[in-house]
Amino acid sequence: MVSNFTTQPNSAGKRTIITSALPYANGPIHVGHLVEYIQTDIYVRFLRLRGEDVIYCCADDTHGTPIELKAKELGVSPEQLIADVFKEHTRDFRAFLVRFDNYYTTNSAENKHFSDLIFGRLKQKGHIYTKEVDITYCEHDKRALPDRYVKGKCPKCRAGDQYGDVCEKCNAAYRTTDLIEPYCALCKNPPIRKKSNHYFFRLGEFSDRLRQWLTENGQLQPEVRNFALNWIKNGLEDWNISRDGPYFGFNIPGEEDKYYYVWLDAPIGYIASFANKVGDNGNAEEQWNDSTIIHFIGKDIMYFHLLFWPAMLMGADFKLPRTVNVHGFLTVNGEKMSKSRGTFITAEDFSRKYPPEYLRYYYASMLSRKLADIDLNFAVFREKINNELVANIGNFCHRVISFTSRNFGGRIGEIEHHAALEKAILDKAGQIAHHYETLNFNEAVREILAISSFGNQYFQAEQPWKLIREDKERVQRICGFALNIVRNLSIVIAPMVPDISTELQRQLNVTDFRWSDISFTLKNHAIGREKLLVQKMEGQEEKKFPLNLKVAKITSIDDHPDADKLYVLQLDLGQEKRQLVAGLRGHYTKEQLLGKNIVVISNLKYAKLRGVESQGMLLAGDDGEQVGVLTARDAAPGTAVRAGTLENGTAQLTYDDFMKLTITVQDGKPVVDGLSLRAGDEDVIADKKLKDGARVR
Ligand code: MSP
Ligand code: ZN
Repeated sequence: MVSNFTTQPNSAGKRTIITSALPYANGPIHVGHLVEYIQTDIYVRFLRLRGEDVIYCCADDTHGTPIELKAKELGVSPEQLIADVFKEHTRDFRAFLVRFDNYYTTNSAENKHFSDLIFGRLKQKGHIYTKEVDITYCEHDKRALPDRYVKGKCPKCRAGDQYGDVCEKCNAAYRTTDLIEPYCALCKNPPIRKKSNHYFFRLGEFSDRLRQWLTENGQLQPEVRNFALNWIKNGLEDWNISRDGPYFGFNIPGEEDKYYYVWLDAPIGYIASFANKVGDNGNAEEQWNDSTIIHFIGKDIMYFHLLFWPAMLMGADFKLPRTVNVHGFLTVNGEKMSKSRGTFITAEDFSRKYPPEYLRYYYASMLSRKLADIDLNFAVFREKINNELVANIGNFCHRVISFTSRNFGGRIGEIEHHAALEKAILDKAGQIAHHYETLNFNEAVREILAISSFGNQYFQAEQPWKLIREDKERVQRICGFALNIVRNLSIVIAPMVPDISTELQRQLNVTDFRWSDISFTLKNHAIGREKLLVQKMEGQEEKKFPLNLKVAKITSIDDHPDADKLYVLQLDLGQEKRQLVAGLRGHYTKEQLLGKNIVVISNLKYAKLRGVESQGMLLAGDDGEQVGVLTARDAAPGTAVRAGTLENGTAQLTYDDFMKLTITVQDGKPVVDGLSLRAGDEDVIADKKLKDGARVR
């Protein structure tokens, strides 16, 4: 039987450089980004545990129009903005235990050096040429407008308000100059056409070499390879790699006011970050070429990493990546993250509410080599933490450690070997290593849970708390064996939850941080003090929306007998009928209201208005000129209307409670605390065109 588990390092003694995509320096790290940084970090930590020479490099991606404009908006220099964001990003990564060997910036001397070097080589070899092109230019803002800064009607489906590159309605891709009735997204004025000289990279020339690299690369995920091969099959267009000023980026050598397009210098930032770590640009190229390179990216930036980037490396005689690992996108509670739904969760928000390692555990349990999106569902999250991390792994470890402390002062001598279980656990460890290595972390988690279940079953079956009265020595040997399982667990969980692993090793009084330490050799040993390892998540009191809003259909209308501004409405709320008094006379005729789906507060204290009972209140926006009721046209009567994803309140409210809330209409939609109101998957809207800021009452 093998008591020491080892496998071959996968890069045959060579250094491996691992990267995650460089996050843009114009916004915070959010839980979507963290999928990637946590995935990469787990992989890096695993390789390191196996004794491999790994360098994990990343940087902020600091160039481009959005960053320049964001700085302008904030009234600071771009340099100041990226310095501030750098601090936030590195703070967030630290909180989530993402441990880079170097976290750098693309606005660096090294990056300038390598961008000029690579650009120069490509140009010298004829892979780059210049050509005059039509650009869209705003005379008011005095700048060339990139795709995202020109809007207009889609040339295919004529949908309004579309960006200059793709239509979000019909998905058509087109040139900015094809937009119908274009306007500048900054100042809304129509732009003009202008001629400008630009640098192009002959991507198409690399089709054969790229195809060969993609086909022969056994490491790529099959879906990824197919995407890229298809793009090549459909023909690769030359790539415009320059931008006109004003632009925040590197000036192109010999040019007055032209800059490298951010996507040229961003991936070169991988090399620059590595060079900064190595501390010598000249030597860095050699070392890069002598390493195994592995990139981690999200599926939205495949084109850049599977075509542009490898072609640039080929053209400039740099080593190509061994593989590019691609992950899917994060959704929150089943939907794309959205600010108005309150599901745009920053790293900082998350770490205020939950221990960051819980997210690492959750992502690990969801991540595989597939490109499928992964969902952050808070009910599943809580369940996994409580049932798996706490009830299975945590409880087993705590149980064994505290039992040993209590009964033997933490001391063990010889251990009770259980050959079948040892073999089963070492087998599992082998499988776990394989799953880490192939990025099927979900399977790794499953096998880890199997080990702690074995441990739990073993301890349960031996009933040491009973046996101790008859054979105390044997119980001590049983504890010894169980502690070996705990120790092995502390190693296999280390890549995923490193701080929990360290704490567990502290309690065990060991420092066995190599994968090859997995064994059943711990004996004649005194463990440390026990401490609760992981805490159960309470059935947390979710933040509620005080109002209980429902969709109601108006089934009949009468004038109030004693008030000439009021109507008396009869409503259908699905399960119930209600009567409401509303001050809509003068704003709506009865015909206009009848049959409408309005929004009512159903938990408001009933009131009598001029002698007629009102069982709640309807919501309407008032901008001083017009009053327009809120409606959800297609929702069924009784449908709950919610602010973002907040649950509706159930406690009864008074009119004064309601008046403390500020709901306004923006862009025709009601908004409260930045959250929009939704009935199922439909946005609630104001029924009339009200001015922005109209108060809802
Ligand atoms: N700056 C570029 C990358 C340049 S690499 C030379 C960029 N930045 S980003 O901030 O938009 O995204 C950084 C990484 O996070 C990308 O790999 C992207 O796919 C990933 N994610 C961003 N949002 C994500 C989700 N919602 N879900 C999963 N990954 C996401 O792209
Ligand atoms: Zn403009």
